[in-house]
Amino acid sequence: MSGFKVRKLTEGFGAEIEGFQFNGEVDNATHRRLRETFDDRGVLVFRGLEIDRTAQAYLSELMISDTAPTLSEAAELAGKQDGFWISNKEPGAAAPFGRLLYHCDMMWSPEPFYVNSLYGVDVEPPVVPTLFASAAHAWDTLPESLRARVENLNAVHVTGPEGFDDRRRGDVAGELLNPIRQTVLSTTTRVAHPHPRIGRTLLYVSQGMTKEIIGLSKDQSENLLDELFQHLYRPESAWQHEWHNCDLVIWDNLAIQHARAAVSIDGPARTLRKIGSPIPVANTHVPTYQQIS
Ligand SMILES: [Fe+2]
Repeated sequence: MSGFKVRKLTEGFGAEIEGFQFNGEVDNATHRRLRETFDDRGVLVFRGLEIDRTAQAYLSELMISDTAPTLSEAAELAGKQDGFWISNKEPGAAAPFGRLLYHCDMMWSPEPFYVNSLYGVDVEPPVVPTLFASAAHAWDTLPESLRARVENLNAVHVTGPEGFDDRRRGDVAGELLNPIRQTVLSTTTRVAHPHPRIGRTLLYVSQGMTKEIIGLSKDQSENLLDELFQHLYRPESAWQHEWHNCDLVIWDNLAIQHARAAVSIDGPARTLRKIGSPIPVANTHVPTYQQIS
């Protein structure tokens, strides 16, 4: 068994896994402990792991599986996402520049990834950190009056900030990255969204992908979303990961939202290898991007 220590990153979520040795597979006891920590904390950070894409897929899949994947299953998951990079240098990478507001990947889909991971392959300082906030902790700590107002409401999620109210874009408008897809994709969920795997209730709205709350005027919807965002992204509850090569960050893509400040094509290298799972049936091609203002 690989012994490791769990160090909390914030009061509400996140853990660094210290002293974890990875030799290609983990035993049942290690799997169980990692999974319990993942479900409890939502984001796990490992440092100094020398792993390839298959190992990254294996460790990611481990967090959402009752039984550890076989190495051939991990290789298959990795193979389907070969070339999936978040990078300002790799040709054809996702999100090559610009700022990303908080979101869950594919929040606009009825089948968003359950787990997401990024691995530092080539990062040069000063690197733009990835920011994290917990929708599970946000629901748990949401003031009762706000809970009562949103408990029975539904929200529409879209692929990007293009159609949002100007106020939402605020003073970062010129930095936002807008994905361009062949079709407009959206989905509707409850604001108080039950997590399909761990059962916790999530405050399931995001600055970067929630367009509106249904049944309210445009102003009412934006004002209510603003109140929810103030709570969800309050600085004392956020956490940011400062990247180094060989860092692996695995997170629950539904319970935890992510964001980043603006990245420049001309800036220092920021190449992160990405794995998401399960791979949805819905359209997942990498869009092209433009900046909007
Ligand atoms: Fe993302």
